[in-house]
Amino acid sequence: MMRTPLKILLIEDNADDELLLRRELKKGGLDAVMHRVEKRQEFIQRLKDEDWDLVVSDYILPSFGGLEALQAHRELKPKTPFIIISGTVGEDVAVKSLKAGADDYLLKQNLIRLVPAITRALQNSAERNIREMAEKSLQESRDRMELIIKSVSDFLIFLSCDDQGGFHYQSANPSFFSMLRTVGLNLTEADIVYKSDSEVEDRIFGFQQSTLEWLHSSRREAVEKRQAVNCEHEFRFRDAKLIAEVCLTPIFDADDRCRFMLINGRDITAKRLAENEQRRLHHQLLHAQKMEALGTLSSEIAHEFNNFLGGILGFATIALQSNDREKTSSYLEEINKIVARARQVVYQIHTFAQRQPSRRDVVQVTAALREILPLLQATLPSGIELSSDLEEPGPVILADAGQLQQLVLNLFNNAVQAMPYGGKLQLSVATVTLDAAACAELPKMSPGQFAKLTLVDSGTGMSPEVLNQVFDPFFTTKPSGQGTGLGLAVVQRIVRAYKGSVRLKSQLGQGTTVEVLFPVR
Ligand SMILES: Nc1ncnc2c1ncn2[C@@H]1O[C@H](COP(=O)(O)OP(=O)(O)OP(=O)(O)O)[C@@H](O)[C@H]1O
Ligand SMILES: [Mg+2]
Repeated sequence: MMRTPLKILLIEDNADDELLLRRELKKGGLDAVMHRVEKRQEFIQRLKDEDWDLVVSDYILPSFGGLEALQAHRELKPKTPFIIISGTVGEDVAVKSLKAGADDYLLKQNLIRLVPAITRALQNSAERNIREMAEKSLQESRDRMELIIKSVSDFLIFLSCDDQGGFHYQSANPSFFSMLRTVGLNLTEADIVYKSDSEVEDRIFGFQQSTLEWLHSSRREAVEKRQAVNCEHEFRFRDAKLIAEVCLTPIFDADDRCRFMLINGRDITAKRLAENEQRRLHHQLLHAQKMEALGTLSSEIAHEFNNFLGGILGFATIALQSNDREKTSSYLEEINKIVARARQVVYQIHTFAQRQPSRRDVVQVTAALREILPLLQATLPSGIELSSDLEEPGPVILADAGQLQQLVLNLFNNAVQAMPYGGKLQLSVATVTLDAAACAELPKMSPGQFAKLTLVDSGTGMSPEVLNQVFDPFFTTKPSGQGTGLGLAVVQRIVRAYKGSVRLKSQLGQGTTVEVLFPVR
């Protein structure tokens, strides 16, 4: 790049010659500042201390020569263009100067070439600088690339592809060889480079047939699809194996032929083993939890039935000993009550154990509730007021009407038992539409229309701790013989079977609201 004004360092002992040069520069329209030196020492000092656009030197000087100056210049500022001007005619001088590295050689008698020579020398120098910079940055980028290839933890393999579609190993990074060491293969790049895929993979790596076939077909797929193929493969060696995530990338030339293939990936054997172990432990835990739940369930059932049997045995024993017919019949009455209760528990357990409802009929929710309302009214303790608000004709669902009634009875019993000193009970049925936002609050529900059944009581309510456990089978706060803790567990089972939801809102001393939703048909 030419600077204005151009800074020229001139080595010349003759001031007249300097004037000639200045005139020539002016004639050529070159704006230049020229500084003349005569002695070697002065030249070296000025060259060192300042930046120059150009050095012009006489070929022969009394104290030292142009070639000597050129040598010093090449050591100190090799990038600055250097032109030799000589009064001596002779090709040998010109050749010597150019060979020594001068950018140009001019005769004093022919200074008309001066300005074009300077312009060309400066241009050449600028191009040289750009080229050098480009080469330097190319080299830096190569070095960086090599550093990355050597230090990445992923393995990288580079294969070339010949015209017949055969692959040859070109290089592989250190991560690849460390991975091979984990399966007992102590190899270096020299063992595989320039060798064919079959020689390396079959003879040197000792891959089993399945892996050889997988490699062939994956490479073919990548070339045919003209895109990277990603997969996970269990690499089987002669007597070891490893699992790796692999990506095969075909590289095409300008003629659209696959020339190279890059295979990169990582060893995920340890990760997969850890996952398998975690899965195994999880299964083990689930199994243990299942066994524990089964144990609890069995012991609760045994306990419950032991109570029933104890009661029956007790009343039977005194009935047998009694001669009083009236008393005997009252004992038998008690036995009857216990058996009825036991049957009720069996029914609950049966519903609880059932995964799917036994039948699915079209059920009018309001009609099904109207059927049991008289029974509810009849068993209602005094002091409790029952009101109902049932939509007519009301929502229709697909269900087992018996199970729906069992659900309502369980909720009704809970509410009644929560109001030992009386209170208010409201039962309602309505059709509601839930959008996505409303469904987000409910587990596993999708938007749509639902039959909503609500039972509100003004009873004792529940503490948050109790509320947390109410759906656990056999969780009860009631004295032995008054509650098995199966009611809400059964309610939840029924609701889940119909892809519905049940929600309890309760506050100690304020009562409880139970909301049940069933998708309408
Ligand atoms: N409406 C309610 N008000 C206050 N507490 C309730 C109500 N419903 C349930 N609970 C509490 O939840 C517990 C569990 O109820 P769940 O119906 O499962 O069993 P249970 O009523 O104790 O026994 P079971 O229903 O088998 O006779 C009850 O013991 C009670 O503490
Ligand atoms: Mg109950």
